[in-house]
Amino acid sequence: MRRLSKSIVASAAVLMGSALLLSGPDARAQSPSERGRVLLNDNCGRCHAVGKTGKSPHEAAPAFRTLGHSFDLDEFAGRLERGLMPGHPDMPAFKFERDDARAVVAYLRDIQE
Ligand code: HEC
Repeated sequence: MRRLSKSIVASAAVLMGSALLLSGPDARAQSPSERGRVLLNDNCGRCHAVGKTGKSPHEAAPAFRTLGHSFDLDEFAGRLERGLMPGHPDMPAFKFERDDARAVVAYLRDIQE
């Protein structure tokens, strides 16, 4: 009986291990904030300064580390999920999944001036 339950525990552990693998390398290794940084870099970095320093490539685009001056970051996740309305003709519309929106806001909180 003891032996049996041990092997059940072992196979459960193996199953959990493969579930983790299936969710992909990104989901395992990154903190939400790190994931948010990658999302912003990929989608917004060609116009906005994403990091704690540096100028925006597009001169009219605000650096993300200053967004807290004009936005309530608590509401910002909701805005990202509903689809960010472009404030400028150069800026495309974006819509994020809930987890991605939260990751983006976690990162934004980390970098605010
Ligand atoms: C093609 C260039 C471009 C891309 C890509 C871009 N933006 Fe922008 N964004 C701008 C510009 C230019 C402004 C300034 C708008 C203005 O001042 O009227 C802006 C303004 C903003 C603002 C302030 C809007 C407001 O109402 O004041 C936010 C927030 C923002 N962008 C977020 C993002 C996010 C998040 C992404 C990526 C998902 C992104 N932007 C991608 C060009 C871009």
